Amino acid sequence: MDQIIVEGGRRLKGEVKISGAKNAALPILVSSLLADGWSSYSNVPNLMDIQSILPLFTDLGACVESSGDRVRINAEGLNNHIAPYDLVRKMRASILVLGPLVARLKKAKVSLPGGCAIGARPINLHLKGLARLGAKIKLEHGYVSAEAKRLIGAEIYLDTATVTGTENLMMAAVLAEGVTTLKNAAREPEITALAHVLNRMGGDVQGAGTSVITINGVESLTPTETRIIPDRIEAGTFMAAAALTRGDVTVLNCEPDHLEAVIHKLQLTGADVRVDGKNIRVKGADKIESIDITTLPYPGFPTDMQAQFMALMSVANGLSHISETIFENRFIHVSELRRLGADITVQGSSAFVKGVPMLSGAPVMATDLRASASLILGGLVAKGKTEVNRVYHLDRGYDGMEKKFARLGAAIKRVKLT
Ligand code: EPZ
Repeated sequence: MDQIIVEGGRRLKGEVKISGAKNAALPILVSSLLADGWSSYSNVPNLMDIQSILPLFTDLGACVESSGDRVRINAEGLNNHIAPYDLVRKMRASILVLGPLVARLKKAKVSLPGGCAIGARPINLHLKGLARLGAKIKLEHGYVSAEAKRLIGAEIYLDTATVTGTENLMMAAVLAEGVTTLKNAAREPEITALAHVLNRMGGDVQGAGTSVITINGVESLTPTETRIIPDRIEAGTFMAAAALTRGDVTVLNCEPDHLEAVIHKLQLTGADVRVDGKNIRVKGADKIESIDITTLPYPGFPTDMQAQFMALMSVANGLSHISETIFENRFIHVSELRRLGADITVQGSSAFVKGVPMLSGAPVMATDLRASASLILGGLVAKGKTEVNRVYHLDRGYDGMEKKFARLGAAIKRVKLT
């Protein structure tokens, strides 16, 4: 288990290149299962979550090649409809293979992903949608089985705008007979990116990025080449770190359109945020203003940026109210930020952050991906040394974060324990 050690107090300066988006790469890599032949991908981030899902494709009978930021997958040999527990438990987004397996092999048996630190993470809406498309669903022994001779297009209303639920159903419907309409669909950029890939494969997906997506089923799809879009959450994390350390950082190669809510909120804290093409420059203000945040489905403020902004608010001027509306248990980082001296009170789905003049370094424990990021950010401004433990959580979703911070002038290093 590795540790990351940060000496606080350095203002970040310079440029940082953003990697490909984890939450776009995962569904797009899965979409290769929908076609025979070699699909190739570039700008794939080097993350544990990606390394965890590639063996699943092999297990299902596909061929996988990966080198650097490039991955190639050929699903011609797809011959196994079972996604086993020992693979799915490492990577809950593996549930995304459910739709494509039913679409291609007429059946699927996928281990239920179970919950995680931030919430129960149910998949009832994935299953309700598949049933609407004609799949017979069975839940037993910790697995979900789905079978359908042919999926038939239908109108599906999603009770919540589930991101991976929308992606799973898009990939099931793209080869169904007839028209499927997804209502109250998620609007995240990662959905739009997946729709673009499916259309380039020969699919007919309209309306992605809006809350109504129409999918006209086709007979078959062909493989394609794709460059993964930049990771808006990684970009937002570095932007928040620039504001927090009163630094001057330019985030390169991102999609500013995907970051409107984050840019707006960062400007409200007093940071000088300027967009220049695919780059965003953030100059931190000496006085950080406290602001209120409510996490919402895209294009609202992203829940995946909530923990990072809580670290920023912990040294802001005044009281901030952070309301987490997406996940039921996404304040685990609060107790660890308190160890750094933050003054935070939690009441249900609200956290009240009273800014303090200075945090103080301490050993802390990462508990989930974005909580880890918030602890690193806290360490960047805490007086003295902060040791972040269990950084495997961080490695799931950030590509060499400590190296990127070190290049921006942070006193940060990774220590390999046992
Ligand atoms: C995706 O998770 C992201 N993961 C998450 O990113 C992100 O936080 C989340 O969307 C919200 O933006 C990937 O894309 C791989 P949801 P997902 O289904 O799809 C409820 C990160 O840090 N719900 O949109 O699992 C659910 O409980 C990760 O990168 C149901 O009730 O999230 C939650 O309250 C964390 N039934 C809400 O919807 C369902 O069938 C949103 O969940 C599905 C979801």
